[in-house]
Order: sequence, then C-alpha cells, then structure tokens
Amino acid sequence: MPEDHPTAPATRGPNATPVDEFAGDDRHSRANAQLGTTGTARSAVGSGDSQRASRRWWDADAEQYHDTHAEFLGVDSADGEFVWCPEGLHEGDWHLLGDISGKRIVEIGCGSAPCSRWLAANGGKPVGLDLSAGMLRRGLAAMARGGPRVPLVQAGAEALPFADASFDLACSSFGAIPFVADSALVMREVARVLRPGGRWVFSVNHPMRWIFPDDPGPEGLRATVSYFDRTPYVEVDAAGAPTYVEHHRTLGDRVREIVAAGLVLRDIIEPDWPEWLDREWGQWSPLRGEIFPGTAIFVSEKPADG
Ligand SMILES: C[S@@+](CC[C@H](N)C(=O)[O-])C[C@H]1O[C@@H](n2cnc3c(N)ncnc32)[C@H](O)[C@@H]1O
Repeated sequence: MPEDHPTAPATRGPNATPVDEFAGDDRHSRANAQLGTTGTARSAVGSGDSQRASRRWWDADAEQYHDTHAEFLGVDSADGEFVWCPEGLHEGDWHLLGDISGKRIVEIGCGSAPCSRWLAANGGKPVGLDLSAGMLRRGLAAMARGGPRVPLVQAGAEALPFADASFDLACSSFGAIPFVADSALVMREVARVLRPGGRWVFSVNHPMRWIFPDDPGPEGLRATVSYFDRTPYVEVDAAGAPTYVEHHRTLGDRVREIVAAGLVLRDIIEPDWPEWLDREWGQWSPLRGEIFPGTAIFVSEKPADG
C-alpha cells in the first residue's frame, strides 16, 4: 500500500551531494541491513536497475512492511480489503472501478494482494501481478488460511505478460508506478491489455509530496526539493549500487502519460485526510494530511472504439 518512503532524507534535494550519509530508519532497518544501504543519492536510474533494486527491496522489506501495514490494509482478513490510500478510501464505498461483477481484472503491484482478494470475494475475477516474490508469498500465506484464491503472477509492470485486450479492468493501489523508470510504458502496457471500454484506476503518492521531506512532523512541511526535478531518489550500498529507487512525475507528466497511451482521463481524486484518522506512520500524519494532499488517484478509460 500506501508506500511510505523508506527514509526521511532531510538532505534529499537537487543540491544533495551524489551520496549523502544515510540516517538509517527503524521502519526499514531489516531491509537496509540486509541490502547494505549506506547512503542516499540523486541520480538517473534506468528501467533495469530500478526493477532490480525494487525486487530486492520489496523482498527484503516484505516482513517489516506487513508489520506496519497489514492491519490497515486488511491483509490478514479472509476476504482481503481494497484500500486505495493512507487516507482510507475503500473501493466498497467509492466504486472507482465501477461494476466488478464477473469482470476480468489485473492488479499491478498487488503486494500481498489484499485488493485482489477483496475483488474476488465481491464477484470479480482478478489476477494479481507483482515483482517481489517476498510480497506475493505473504499473499499466498494469507490465502492459505481461507477466503478466495487469486492467481498471482511474478512480473514487472513495464512488460505485462498478458495478451492484448485480456482484461476489463486494471487497478493499482500504490503498486509499481512510483518505482518504475518508465511509467509511460506502464500506461501503454495497461492500455494494451485492457479491452476497448475498459477502465484503469491507480493511486500514487501525490506529486506535490515530492518537494517535502518524508517526515510526518513539522519538518515535513518545509519544501526542500524542486517539484520540477525528476531526478530519482536513490538509496545505495557501499559500492554505489541502488538498493531502493523512487521516481517522480509531476501531475502534468502523469496526465500526459495517460493520454499518450490512448486512454481518456476521467478524474483525479485527491482525498482529504479524514477526521477519524489520527494514525501517523511513515510520512503520513494528520498534520500533513490536513494541509496538502498525500494521494492522487487517476481514473482513466480505454475508448470503446480504441
Ligand atoms: C507500496 S507496495 C503496495 C502493495 C499493495 N498494492 C498494497 O497496497 O499493499 C508497492 C508494491 O509494488 C511492487 N513493485 C515495485 N516495482 C514494481 C514493478 N516494477 N513491477 C511490479 N511490481 C512492482 C512492490 O513489489 C510492492 O509489492
């Protein structure tokens, strides 16, 4: 879900030196130790290196990610849950995918697949796709305890292993898109595997979050990075190899990538921080959420004659 960046890079920014000292991060200590993360950097990283880093990162962080996120995401409930974002929007309330009954659905970056399992429990026919065996394994373990069983596929979002027009719907809840070097390619791939008239809905961290440090407190309200700087945020090991990569797109970039893939953009939802939610984790907090958006949810469709 709702990814929270693994570190709080107070030094992140266009003026950062190529490799900054890594402050460490309790929430991701096991993954950082396992991968030997020693610093942060801002540098261009292509698709292959991003994918390699993401696979290793999510494998290494799967357990700790679930320690902090599983309950909120409903990972261990028999029928899963479909939560779009840290602000708690649930597909059962919002119906962003429309009618899911009998629909063939692909979930991109499904992690342990609580969303896919919820879709299956509510009449859909989902397939969950994710790069990380560690994340998928967590989903298999949850399914072994009961509830609907969903096919899971290990693959990268930039090359979907599915035939053209094989799905009615596609969705992603903070899966894959912030981590790929070529998100325009993901949009084209999703457009390819959707049937004409199909719908594609994905949530990502709101582009304006990029300019602030990942800090839930007052420090997280101080803009330190240019919104216009698309240079990826990278964590590296002692040899300088990426151990974690996150890519930035502006709001306009996201819209252009959707449109260039031949899709029609129907809506961009920027959820309010709900009054009932006093939870603070990672970069997410009521303090920040009440002032500026943390999530953007893009709703698009493939034209019926497309
Ligand atoms: C923040 S988690 C979200 C998982 C799930 N949607 C959830 O809500 O728990 C991001 C997921 O994206 C997956 N991911 C990252 N890069 C990917 C890529 N290039 N292709 C497919 N999945 C990817 C990770 O393995 C991870 O499971």
